[in-house]
Amino acid sequence: MKTSLISGHNQKERLQTLIYSNAADACLHVATAISKLIRERNEAGKATVLGLATGSTPVRLYQELIRMHREEGLSFRNVTTFNLDEYYGLPGDHPESYRRFMQDQLFDHIDIDLEETHVPDGLVERDQVYASCQEYEDAIGKAGGIDIQILGIGRTGHIGFNEPGSDARTRTRLVTLDSLTRRDAARDFLGEENVPRHAITMGVGTILDARKVYLLAWGEGKAPVIAQSVEGEPTDSIPASFLQQHGDCEFCLDHAAAGHLTRVRYPWLVGPVEWTPEMVRKSVVWLAQKLNKPLLKLTDEDYAENGMADLLTEKGSSYELNIDLFNITQHTITGWPGGKPNADDSSRPERADPFPKRSLILGSEPMDDVFCMGGTLHRLANQGHDVTVAYLTSGNLAVPDPDVRRAIELIMEIGRERENQENVGFARSVEQQLDSKGRFGEDTREIRYLKGLIRRGEARTSARLLGIESQQLRFLDLPFYENGRYRRFKSGDADVAAMVALLQELKPHQIFTTGLGHDPLSVPAISFDVLCEALKKCAGSGWTSECRVWLYRGPGAEWDAHEIDMAVPLSPEEFELKIRGIYQHQTQRSQSPSTLRKGGSDTWNLASQLNKATAEIYDDLGLAEYEALEGFKLWKTNEVN
Ligand code: GLP
Repeated sequence: MKTSLISGHNQKERLQTLIYSNAADACLHVATAISKLIRERNEAGKATVLGLATGSTPVRLYQELIRMHREEGLSFRNVTTFNLDEYYGLPGDHPESYRRFMQDQLFDHIDIDLEETHVPDGLVERDQVYASCQEYEDAIGKAGGIDIQILGIGRTGHIGFNEPGSDARTRTRLVTLDSLTRRDAARDFLGEENVPRHAITMGVGTILDARKVYLLAWGEGKAPVIAQSVEGEPTDSIPASFLQQHGDCEFCLDHAAAGHLTRVRYPWLVGPVEWTPEMVRKSVVWLAQKLNKPLLKLTDEDYAENGMADLLTEKGSSYELNIDLFNITQHTITGWPGGKPNADDSSRPERADPFPKRSLILGSEPMDDVFCMGGTLHRLANQGHDVTVAYLTSGNLAVPDPDVRRAIELIMEIGRERENQENVGFARSVEQQLDSKGRFGEDTREIRYLKGLIRRGEARTSARLLGIESQQLRFLDLPFYENGRYRRFKSGDADVAAMVALLQELKPHQIFTTGLGHDPLSVPAISFDVLCEALKKCAGSGWTSECRVWLYRGPGAEWDAHEIDMAVPLSPEEFELKIRGIYQHQTQRSQSPSTLRKGGSDTWNLASQLNKATAEIYDDLGLAEYEALEGFKLWKTNEVN
């Protein structure tokens, strides 16, 4: 169901923007439009021409079309497709080629004539590229032009592979990929150095020629570029903004991707709002940050001059508002994330009783725990709570090959020294599998197994530093991850069953987790879905009504100040300990040397920057000055459906 968050206040938006409660609902809307057109055309004996996109964004749309084909008889016999783009230099059967992606995600599951599916040829000789691009354009024209074009969006604002700098007249051509785009693709190619440097893409002009355009976007990572595309002037630095010039284009977003639109982020700036406690908090914190003033120094004029006069009228004066907000923010701070025993807890984020608490910390992958809440974890353990850390997936896909080779050397050496032929044999066999994998081959079961063990070792040493012993760790190795690869994960009953078993065994009083608002096909988001399903299954078990779920934002990001319900301060020593804990995840110092050379930050630096930044924000708002803060949001189950 489409949910327009605040209807009638879209004057900042320069094109039609629909916000859905989740990606599945948005995909249903688009799939319905596609199937309606195909059926009308089929009945009239005419063909339908679709422009298709790749990436994780359209995967659910394709799943819905496949479902419509299987269950509702939607036939694609009369459909011609043109894909937006293809990496240059990749053969069609390469696991990351867009041709292969389309086969796997859609074409192999419907009754389309493969002759009628077009993906730019990534292997065409350099001197033939121009002619081949012309032919692609001609073929689109000959088919009658594109009826419906599906688009995702890259974080650079690209559509297809039209990177910043591409203007509205560009046509199908060879392009150089932006460094951010290559970094985003690094995970799929198991390293940035493996990502092709060039691609062939339809131009912005080619896309604008389509009769109807749907741009889809999910997850908070896309929120900034969506806001720029929808509300900014059309500019070639954000090629998606040229879609404003198209007469019939819809942006279909989930809540998280819409998060930076003015009507979602600063609704009081575009019309009257209902001043709920959340809205008051959000706006006053925003005002203080915008004016660079501590909360207690905001004046009536500050409110009136920044679109918040009606809040003043409703609440009385800035004096009362400021004190209220100061207290609310002050009460989020606690050094007792498991609750302070024998203390008045009426204005503390967590209850005093029961003590000790059974605290379950979930990491979608090893390292989430220490990266996002290492200080809190340390406090929980130190304060005597019964802490369990469960890693939902092994994280083995994120281990670079050289780390496996190092482990092989070690196993081999020990095997030789101790004359253990079994170890030597195992190490040799994994080594051979690595050798024969080639640059882009998939990891075998054994390679993945060994990579998973490496991450287990890192998780154990890291947790031990923070006061968590091995027996407090659980490695669930959920099957959705073990049997999948990036962008193709799909959870199932076995994943939920494993989570239910863990929850029913531990009956936690508090759970710390992440994944809300992430890209729906990402590991944290799928892990979060598994938790939600499991909690639903456990409902009525008694413990669930007493269990609080605390969300950490996830690796690489922190909640905005107004979203934080519990802020756990870290002393300089504790912060140091956390950073040392992160260092134990040796295989995860992810950024390539070239990114670091250009001043980019690696995973390890990022954690410290984020926690310090949150502490600074609290300080700027006029609260106490801490070395670092870890923020958590209390999950209200009605936020997810
Ligand atoms: C690639 C594709 C785009 C796609 C973008 C976003 O760059 N060429 O067409 O929109 O990735 O990918 P994702 O949907 O995985 O976020």
